[in-house]
Amino acid sequence: MNFYVLTLFPEMVERGLSHSILGRAQKEGIINIKAVDIRDFALNKQKHVDDYPYGGGCGMVMQAQPIYDSFKSLDIKNGTRVIYMTPQGKPFTQKTAHELSNEEELVILCGHYEGVDERIIEEIVTDEISIGDFVLTGGEIAAMAVIDAVSRLKEGVLGKAESFMDESFCQNTLEYPQYTRPYEFLGRKVPDILLSGHHGNIEKWRREQSLIRTYEKRPDLYETLELSKKEKDFMEKYLTNKSESR
Ligand code: ADE
Repeated sequence: MNFYVLTLFPEMVERGLSHSILGRAQKEGIINIKAVDIRDFALNKQKHVDDYPYGGGCGMVMQAQPIYDSFKSLDIKNGTRVIYMTPQGKPFTQKTAHELSNEEELVILCGHYEGVDERIIEEIVTDEISIGDFVLTGGEIAAMAVIDAVSRLKEGVLGKAESFMDESFCQNTLEYPQYTRPYEFLGRKVPDILLSGHHGNIEKWRREQSLIRTYEKRPDLYETLELSKKEKDFMEKYLTNKSESR
């Protein structure tokens, strides 16, 4: 899968994604990440790519021309999705990551300053994505988050296919707690069931822990779950115990 990132900070993107799992995935050719410097397409000597907003107001706006020319320099197929990272975009979720991981290539535009000239959005952008209700100084960190979440879903990027099957959000529940050695740390012991060797019981315990966690930490996600009769009974008991112990 090819990612093309249109940015004023190509090094930030390329270096930021050159480590660990994504670094290896690029070496193996499973994904390619190419950051294109928008500034290379400035037509003035000073290499300015921004200007004052029409109508006044604070901040600067990225001009359409250098972005457009950087986009036109890409050797991409017709119909390739062009994502603009912006806090005004559609909230990024695991579902969006799965959907995007089916694409062969993606272009991601990173804004800076007070944003980009609206006409570039009208002309080239197909999707606007936000990684959360907060404002970053630019789209690069957001683009890196999207590339990371999408890449790890491509076959061969993670070690084993199962390694992302159980995880948080795959079944709309949060992941169960994990433990490794030592058995005891600062007086806290690993739950005995995990040492029992009984896979069925461990599986059941993990599912129950996932349900409790989702209920406690993400009640909004819990509301969307479809629980089996046994799971509903378990949660009812948990909630009764909880209210009695208060
Ligand atoms: N650019 C600035 N803030 C952003 C956000 N929250 N999501 C995506 N892109 C952004």
